[in-house]
Amino acid sequence: MIAYSTDVSVLDATRLTGFFVGWPAAPTAERHLAALRGSHRVVLALDGDRVVGFVNLISDGVLTGFVPWLEVLPEYQKRGIGAELVRRILAEAGHLYSVDLVCDPDVKPFYDRLGLFELVGMGVRNRAVLTGGPGAGESKGLV
Ligand SMILES: CC(C)(COP(=O)(O)OP(=O)(O)OC[C@H]1O[C@@H](n2cnc3c(N)ncnc32)[C@H](O)[C@@H]1OP(=O)(O)O)[C@@H](O)C(=O)NCCC(=O)NCCS
Repeated sequence: MIAYSTDVSVLDATRLTGFFVGWPAAPTAERHLAALRGSHRVVLALDGDRVVGFVNLISDGVLTGFVPWLEVLPEYQKRGIGAELVRRILAEAGHLYSVDLVCDPDVKPFYDRLGLFELVGMGVRNRAVLTGGPGAGESKGLV
């Protein structure tokens, strides 16, 4: 049975393993935890003590919010957990005017079904920041 929590205060990095699947440079669990702690709102999907999915919202707290991360561990996907995380983070953002996110084209049908509509996104990426390794801050460019 999957439980959902918005409390990251008791979370520690050892419970954030297995995420950022397929990323060439994944953030460490400690950086992942820091990102969650720095967020406006977070929803965690929990199987017992194990974190099996997460979504976060960053925001000015008044009008606008952005959902930078959503992930469900591969062995827990296609059970409705991702959709439930999105529904819950949108409920957490009910006080805001706008909530935006950027996704790859293949994930668009997932968000379509949750009632989101298409926007045009623009951005830069600094991959070295993910790991905090040498060169952080130098290269801005493609994903
Ligand atoms: C996208 C993601 C969060 C979905 O999580 P999930 O728990 O598998 O999603 P759900 O089980 O709630 O899926 C709900 C529906 O969307 C569909 N769906 C899920 N991912 C999809 C995708 N990439 N493309 C199209 N449909 C998708 C599911 O098949 C399901 O449909 P169904 O109810 O008819 O079976 C998960 O695949 C994931 O973590 N992917 C890697 C990270 C990622 O892409 N995150 C999004 C960044 S914007």
